[in-house]
Amino acid sequence: MKALVLAGGSGTRLRPLTYVMPKQLVPVAGEPLLFHTMRNLHQIGVRDVAVVVGDWHAEIADALGDGRRFGLRITYLRQDRPRGLAHCVLLARPFLGADDFVMCLGDNFLPDGIGDLAADFAQRRPAAQIAVRAVDDPRAFGVAETDGSGVVRRLVEKPAEPAGNLAVLGVYFFTEAIHEAVERIRPGARGELEITDAVQLLVTAGATVRASEYAGYWADVGRIEDVLRCNRHALDQVKPELLGEVDDASETVGAVALAPGARLVRSRVEGPAIIGPGAAIVDSKVGPNVVIGSECTIQATRLGDCVVLDGGRMTGLISDPQPLPPEGERRDD
Ligand code: G1P
Repeated sequence: MKALVLAGGSGTRLRPLTYVMPKQLVPVAGEPLLFHTMRNLHQIGVRDVAVVVGDWHAEIADALGDGRRFGLRITYLRQDRPRGLAHCVLLARPFLGADDFVMCLGDNFLPDGIGDLAADFAQRRPAAQIAVRAVDDPRAFGVAETDGSGVVRRLVEKPAEPAGNLAVLGVYFFTEAIHEAVERIRPGARGELEITDAVQLLVTAGATVRASEYAGYWADVGRIEDVLRCNRHALDQVKPELLGEVDDASETVGAVALAPGARLVRSRVEGPAIIGPGAAIVDSKVGPNVVIGSECTIQATRLGDCVVLDGGRMTGLISDPQPLPPEGERRDD
């Protein structure tokens, strides 16, 4: 099985963060979102991955390289502008050939992996398999209607009046049947070739399309609140490990992961927290729910519930945690 990872989107909802980096490289638990995706792919046995990139192609290729560090071989495919998820499949046809493939959206965070979904697909091998999750308000997602046994009856992209509550997640398993469907669809309401329409075409043609309910943690990282929420979730798994230096006037409380080369000077860090390699925390109070990137300098500062990007410098800043809006809510671009 091959993989297609879509990382061409611009991430307008994540501005101002996405003025400096693509949303697929936003750090979650101290690592770019795409690193988590690559690990998920390696775990299910994928070795060949094509990553569709747009304006941020250089930054993404810099971060992932040739894939060796993940045990993968990565090919980059350049999309001139966002033309839709189905357009990415068209673009990747020469790479995919007639192989089965898994398509992952680069802005979806699935820290529990995609092993169950891959097993489901391998066992039943329908023409296509989508992953779904019941959400309170599915209007900002693709919405699937099933017959109750997991067979998809209808798929609609962002319906104003959804017929059910099953939102489509960003992990799709396809056989080569999808290629013909992708060639036949026309741009949808937002002017893009929607993968939802291609999958619906398979349903209409009588092919078996199944929906697998995803049981693990899932977030579509579209807004800053999603980034914070994902980090908070990932931080719940952090194991206390002090590999850096803690001076006598500093203390750590709870699950604090201090990377090698990180220093705490007259500071207090309350876990869960990750302090990246080479970071210096001086005369500060940090945590809980904080991820400090590598080589950051945090001085005379109080921080809670936040992410500091690699190389960030802060002096004399007080930032207290803000409450997050309800889970599962999504505004559109
Ligand atoms: C895309 C799909 C949508 C799916 C969502 C999941 O939407 O078109 O069907 O529910 O990803 O993240 P987009 O992020 O392009 O708005």
